[in-house]
Amino acid sequence: MSLEQQVLSTFPSVENIPAPFALSEPLEYPHYLINGEILTWSGEMEDVYSPIEILKNGVYEKALIGRCPVLDAEVGLQAMDAAVAAYDNGMGRWPTMSVADRIRHMEDFCSSMTEKRDEVIRLMVWEICKSAKDSAVEFDRTVEYIRDTIDALKDLDRANSRFTIEKNIYAQIRRAPMGPVLSMGPFNYPLNETFATLIPALIMGNPVIVKAPKHGKMLLAPLVEAFRDCFPKGVVSILFGDRRLVTPIMKTGKINVLAFIGASTSADALRVSHPHPHRLRCVLGLEAKNAAIVLEGADMESTVQELLTGAFSFNGQRCTAIKIIFAHKSRVDELLERLCEGVGKLKVGMPFDEGVNITPLPVPGKTEYLNELVRDAEAHGARVVNEGGGTVVKSLFYPTLLYPVNSEMRVYHEEQFGPVAPVASFEDERDAIDYLVQSNYGQQVAIFGKDPDQIAELIDPLVNQVCRVNINSQCQRGPDVFPFTGRKDSAEGTLSVSDALRCFSIRTLVAAKGNAGNKALLTAILRQRQSNFLSTDFIF
Ligand code: G3H
Repeated sequence: MSLEQQVLSTFPSVENIPAPFALSEPLEYPHYLINGEILTWSGEMEDVYSPIEILKNGVYEKALIGRCPVLDAEVGLQAMDAAVAAYDNGMGRWPTMSVADRIRHMEDFCSSMTEKRDEVIRLMVWEICKSAKDSAVEFDRTVEYIRDTIDALKDLDRANSRFTIEKNIYAQIRRAPMGPVLSMGPFNYPLNETFATLIPALIMGNPVIVKAPKHGKMLLAPLVEAFRDCFPKGVVSILFGDRRLVTPIMKTGKINVLAFIGASTSADALRVSHPHPHRLRCVLGLEAKNAAIVLEGADMESTVQELLTGAFSFNGQRCTAIKIIFAHKSRVDELLERLCEGVGKLKVGMPFDEGVNITPLPVPGKTEYLNELVRDAEAHGARVVNEGGGTVVKSLFYPTLLYPVNSEMRVYHEEQFGPVAPVASFEDERDAIDYLVQSNYGQQVAIFGKDPDQIAELIDPLVNQVCRVNINSQCQRGPDVFPFTGRKDSAEGTLSVSDALRCFSIRTLVAAKGNAGNKALLTAILRQRQSNFLSTDFIF
C-alpha cells in the first residue's frame, strides 16, 4: 500500500469511530448568552464541519458537527450594553463584590463545568482534531488553572488585607477591576487559552464579553448554561461570530481591556477600532518562531525526543512549537538521521485513534499553504529529508523535515504553524543568535548541549532576545504559574496564574493622614465591615 493509501485509510467509516466519539446528530445551537439570558438567534447560521471526512458508501463526506450563530453588530452592541450595565461605572454588584464572594461564584462555575467534561472533549476532538488524550489534558489543565487562579487571588488578597504606613500616611493598597473586557482565544487551545484570560478577568471583578474562536467554537456551547447560572447577569456574554460582531463592540470605545490570542493582524485591527486607544489595555498572545539550537556536545537521544515533541505535538500548531532548528555542522547529519527515524514513528491518523500524533488540520487552506512553503524551500535549495515528507491527503499533512534551509526561504521567516520542521546548520553559534536578533518574534528558544561554558555564553545574549530560554527541553508555556510572554511581535502583557490577575486589574489605594480622627474613622469602617475594599478580613 502506498503512503497516500495508508494515510487515506485512517479516515474512518461510521462503524470505525470509537463509541465515546461516535457521530451523533449535529449539534444545532442557535443560542448565545447576554445579560443573564440564553437567547435564540434567528439570523444567519454557520455550518461547523470537522476536518475529518467520513467514508460513506464509498464516498468521503465532510462530517458536520453542528451549527451555530453568526451574530451581527446589533447583538454585539447589546452585549456591550449589558457589560456596561453590569459594571455600572465600577459600582455594579460584581465589581464591588467581596473577593470571597467572587471566589464562591467561580467555584460554582468550576464544579458545573466539570460535569460537561466529556461533551467538551468530544467537540474539541471533532472540531479541531486535537487527539482525545490531548483534548482531555486541555480540559483538565483548564480546570486546574481555575483552581490555581482562585488560590492565587486568595494569596493576593491576604497580602493586601493589611495597611501600609509610610510617612504617617495609612494606606490600604489593593487591585481594583478595569471595566469591560473583550476576550478572544485561538483555535489551537480554544478552551484553555480563552479561559486563560476570561477567568482572571472575571474573578478580578470585570464583566467579560467572550467571542468564541473561529475554529473550536462549538465546545463553548455546553458551558453556556453554567455561565448563566453561576454569574450575575451581564457579567459574562458568550457570542459566536466574526469581525462584523467584534469591530462594532470595539468601536463603542467602552472596552477597557482587549485580551486576544491569535494573529497580530487581527489584534492590530481590533486595537485601532477603539476610538481612544490610550484607554485600552491590551493583553496579547501573538505569533512566534521559536528556534532550537543544537550544540556540538548535545545528547542526541534526548535532544531528538524534545525536538520531536517540540516541533510536532498537535501537528506543530502551538505558539510555543519549535519552528526552526539550528544544528552544529558537526552533528547535523546524525541529527537528521535520528529525526527522520523519529518522524517515521509518529502515528498519523484520526484524533480518536490510540497513540496518534499527527491529525487532520482544522484551518481551511492550511495544507496548501504548507505545501507552498515546502515548494519554495525546494526551489531555494532545500530538500525534504524524511520519507513521505510533504505528502498531503485531504486535511492531513504528513510530518516533514526540510534541510538545509536558509534566509532566502519563506519557511525560514514565516510561522508555519503546522507539521513542517526546517533545519539549518551553523559553524558559529553567532549565526543562531543573529537569527533571533533579526527575527520579528521573541517568545522562546531551546538550547541543547552539555558544556556549561558554552550554554552560559548563550544564555546571557538570548535572555534579551526572548522571554524563556529552555535548556535541553522543548519550548512550552507551562507550568501555568510561570510567566508566559514574548518580545517584539510575539506578545503584549504577561500571562501566568498570578500575572494574569494583575493584567486585568489596577493598583488602587485608600490613604489617610495618620491623625487621631482618621484613625478612629478607619477603625470604625473596618470594625463594622462597611467596605469590601477597605477591609482587613483574611480569606482562609
Ligand atoms: O499556542 C500556544 C500555547 O500557549 C502553547 O502552550 O506550550 O502549553 O502547548 P503549550
